Amino acid sequence: MSLIERWRERLPVTARTPIITLGEGNTPLVRADRVAKAANLPPGSVFLKIEGMNPTGSFKDRGMTLAISKAVEARARGVLCASTGNTSASAAAYAARAGLRCIVFLPRGKVAAGKLAQAVMHGAEIIEVAGNFDQALVLANEAAKTRGFALVNSSNPFRIEGQKTAAFEILEQLGRAPDNHFIPVGNAGNITAYWKGYQEGGAKPRMFGWQAAGAAPLVSGRPVANPTTLATAIRIGRPVSWNGAIAARDESGGAIGKVTDAEILAACRFLGRAEGIFCEPASAASVAGLIKLGKNGRAPRGVTVCVLTGNGLKDPGIAARFAPKIRRVKAGGRIKL
Ligand code: F0G
Repeated sequence: MSLIERWRERLPVTARTPIITLGEGNTPLVRADRVAKAANLPPGSVFLKIEGMNPTGSFKDRGMTLAISKAVEARARGVLCASTGNTSASAAAYAARAGLRCIVFLPRGKVAAGKLAQAVMHGAEIIEVAGNFDQALVLANEAAKTRGFALVNSSNPFRIEGQKTAAFEILEQLGRAPDNHFIPVGNAGNITAYWKGYQEGGAKPRMFGWQAAGAAPLVSGRPVANPTTLATAIRIGRPVSWNGAIAARDESGGAIGKVTDAEILAACRFLGRAEGIFCEPASAASVAGLIKLGKNGRAPRGVTVCVLTGNGLKDPGIAARFAPKIRRVKAGGRIKL
């Protein structure tokens, strides 16, 4: 069932809204006892929401199915967005399915290979910006004034509405509200949407957002002019949903913290090796944050859900950083295990 059909009564759709779907949502929530142990927490206290299992490999598909459906309903000619990669991949796929033009503004040299491949294969019109995401977004916002085009960044309220369904799913899958929700934060649409979804579902977990240390405006309280991190998905210095993130933090009694690239990479590798889950680096920021708190004995008590926002195959280049040991053998040769 499509995400829109599943949650129809909680979404801004009518019988006249065409549903553009790729079968998004309904992603696994898996128990992660090794992560719990690494965070000094008891077995059964940590769960991972694997959003990389969505059709285009990231959480963006939840909001995109609604944003594109509403664009079709409004008879848009096309859609556009700025993106660090995943939004553009998702927009390109759903626009292709809807038969809409899709124009994406991407920061040059800072989009992971898999994401760029998706934009190409789904036929998006790619505009490379000599600048960072924040600067690309300025261009996209300007271009969105063109008649007939809809902006499908998370400033589009339909993106947040579709995205909030992830919180509904977690409540259903756990059979209760989590005590804590850990999530990577870039442009801050996702944390805003989860908080909305939890509240609509009558839940109030503490919201813990995690930024990369070189791109942590919500931690310092000031925009960052030149954000840097190898987690390119969250290489953002001026989050659009700034207020939403702060509200989620303060209303829930949570926190927004930062993790270094080394901590992100370590968590990414740990998830791959100890839990069998390959997520992209930005996604691992949530788990990196939990492990960091846990090492100091400060991981919050109770049940914690960490969101893994994107699939590891999006950014295969990351594996090279782990200097893989590969042995060579001739065909017909022998090898000792
Ligand atoms: N994780 C991944 C894999 C992402 O792609 C993003 C954002 C985030 C986390 C942060 O989510 O922006 O809602 O706080 N990617 C956007 C993009 C910016 O263009 O694909 P957020």
